[in-house]
Amino acid sequence: MPHERTITCERCGRERHFVPFLHDHFGAPVRASAAPEILPHLPITRGAGAALHQQVYDGLRRAILDGLLRPGQRVPSTRSLAAELGMSRLPVLTAYEQLLHEGYLEGRVGSGTFVTASLPDDALRPRRGSQPAAAPSPRPKPRVRPEPFGGGLRPFRISAPALDHFPHAVWSRLVARHAYGLTPSHMMYGDPAGLESLRAAVAQHLRTARAVRCEAEQVLIVSGSQAALRLCATVLLSRGDRVAMEEPGYPGARAALGTEGVELVPVPVDDEGLDVGALNALGARVRAAYITPSHQYALGVSMSAARRLALLEWAERRGAWLLEDDYDSEYRYVSRPLGALQGMSAHGRVIYIGTFSKVLFPAIRVGYVVVPPSLWDAFMKARDAMDVFSPTLYQLVLADFLTEGHFARHLRRMRMIYLRRRDALLSGLARHCEGLLTVHNADAGLHVTTTLAPGVDDVQVIERMAARSLTAIALSSCYLGPARQPGLLLGFGGSDERRLEAATRTLGEVLRELTR
Ligand SMILES: Cc1ncc(COP(=O)(O)O)c(C=O)c1O
Repeated sequence: MPHERTITCERCGRERHFVPFLHDHFGAPVRASAAPEILPHLPITRGAGAALHQQVYDGLRRAILDGLLRPGQRVPSTRSLAAELGMSRLPVLTAYEQLLHEGYLEGRVGSGTFVTASLPDDALRPRRGSQPAAAPSPRPKPRVRPEPFGGGLRPFRISAPALDHFPHAVWSRLVARHAYGLTPSHMMYGDPAGLESLRAAVAQHLRTARAVRCEAEQVLIVSGSQAALRLCATVLLSRGDRVAMEEPGYPGARAALGTEGVELVPVPVDDEGLDVGALNALGARVRAAYITPSHQYALGVSMSAARRLALLEWAERRGAWLLEDDYDSEYRYVSRPLGALQGMSAHGRVIYIGTFSKVLFPAIRVGYVVVPPSLWDAFMKARDAMDVFSPTLYQLVLADFLTEGHFARHLRRMRMIYLRRRDALLSGLARHCEGLLTVHNADAGLHVTTTLAPGVDDVQVIERMAARSLTAIALSSCYLGPARQPGLLLGFGGSDERRLEAATRTLGEVLRELTR
């Protein structure tokens, strides 16, 4: 057992208890790997200048004061640090003892030596008799607990699937199967196009469930739709090109497609989808149009057949590309899911993009592009340059998940769950938010689009919602040009009926406060 010691500080007279610096070495295995990361702070020079223990002391103290070693961070054992520095242990022991004594370090019984979790103020003042140090750089401000990214799992979080119904048992069995059975060739670099078995399974799913015209050879596996859009930008767009964007539309697509020298042009969306008349009026320099025909992000409408045909005709006539983002088309509550626009195209001007983010979970980071044969080589080259290929383990798991029928079963189950959640949201809104907002569209997908009375500041609503632990997307943030309509995009996929009921009640209170 290590022995506790008590030391009285010469300056303040306070007693400090600590386990001497040797405590973590008594009988405990030395972790040789603990030291290398702090070596940059210890540029030891031998035979000149200060003694070795002084150099070790100064280097560590400086790193602590500069915030490079943080409170609570473990420092290496004296034995492994001495070994890394190629010196005897004595100078390191002496330096550690001094730092422990001064309160820069603390020992914890049985677990090692750490930068003191709450450094005393006097530790931040230069030590009397110590080498004059450069003025300490400002210490990092205490961190305020950040908002969970994008709203985390808060009610109304957009893009959140029903993770509480995820088939963990099947999934973990498949993950374990492939993790244990990973062959050396699966541990090497993979095909930038993706795993053959997954490409075949995705192609079959798209042909049957989405009426996409495709062969496995056209399916390119990528790290989600965002990566797919970025890839489209790399391959298709050059300086001076214009890209038509749905207005209002998906901000993520703007971020991916708005590369240097490319002009994004807003084209209004109405109850039938993108206004193709307005698109026609844009002239000749439009190289591509980004569209979400199954479930328009943000207004939630599905593009009418007439508009689809007009859009295909426009692309053919102009030699432009249509980037079809089919992000959550599997879920439609009023009729059977609509077929993809890509399947209606006879001329191969549609690049079809899909993702597993909504149908499984976003952290999987797997999506796909159905690439027209004429563009295949260019897409492959760009994909290879971008991030080479997607992790093989998840691809293997997904391939089995699809081919063994788990995916189709999962979609069927989820459709029922989402229908119940959507209905709960709608009835909650009717009960608690009547007269405060208007439901614009709730036929498909995992969010309901609502509009607020003109003049209401939807960003302010979101801020007030955040203070009540809710989240949402402001419709005004979906406009490329001036926002025309305030509103809220309310996700319902990630919360059960009880949470949605409570959340709509809170939302009603927030809206009433703001419109009083
Ligand atoms: C319109 C749209 N496209 C695509 C995605 C999914 O992107 P990813 O596959 O990169 O997760 C989202 C997610 O929010 C989306 O709203």
